[in-house]
Amino acid sequence: FQKKVLAGKKVLITAGPTFEAIDPVRGITNHSSGKMGFAIARAAVEAGAQVHLIAGPCDLETPLAATGKITRTDVVSAKEMHAATIQASDSDIFFAVAAVADWSVAKPAKEKIKRQSQKAPDLAFVANPDILLDMAKSVKTKAGKPYPYCVGFAAESTNLEAHAKEKLQRKGIPMIVGNIGPETFGSDLNQLLIIDAQGSKKLAKAEKLQLARQLIELIAKKI
Ligand code: C5P
Repeated sequence: FQKKVLAGKKVLITAGPTFEAIDPVRGITNHSSGKMGFAIARAAVEAGAQVHLIAGPCDLETPLAATGKITRTDVVSAKEMHAATIQASDSDIFFAVAAVADWSVAKPAKEKIKRQSQKAPDLAFVANPDILLDMAKSVKTKAGKPYPYCVGFAAESTNLEAHAKEKLQRKGIPMIVGNIGPETFGSDLNQLLIIDAQGSKKLAKAEKLQLARQLIELIAKKI
């Protein structure tokens, strides 16, 4: 960054997947390497922000840890990610990058469920809390500007723009970022579709870190 566009700002980020236990050895999860969220964390530190990264299970190093500008909280389930996010101190920008599991198992078994030759267990699910929705509901105002500025992400298999716009409205957030496939999951490359009140803007295929820097630059102008 030519200028530290987020100097003095606090940025909160959820990244990676969540993991919902079925029993001590099994669970359900979503595809997410955490790379996009971690790239945003790195770009935000580069831009001068103090960053709190809340990460689901993923195998990535905390970016720029030596700067002391980044705090990381590791969580496993959506419920834990929700609690850690809500408890985090006030932030100026919240990036909900995590691929949060929509459901968790109602009663995870304490011991490993024994396999019975042909019979599958009957699992009951419960809906997980919506972290982004709850953060969007808690938005406050400082010097006439709402904070945190909440940014949602959308990964869809069809109709990205329509689904992303629907999420923006349903969650009441100012910006949503669509992952334009096909190579999103686990890749170092991505293409993004940024949607806000001004319209849609495509960020062409590039390294996730380059895209994260462009996204930070754009948002810094809005807050
Ligand atoms: O419509 P959907 O809930 O999938 O919207 C995706 C966006 O919402 C992403 O930004 C994701 O991080 C966030 N989300 C969340 N908590 C959930 C589900 C999704 O923060 N339980």
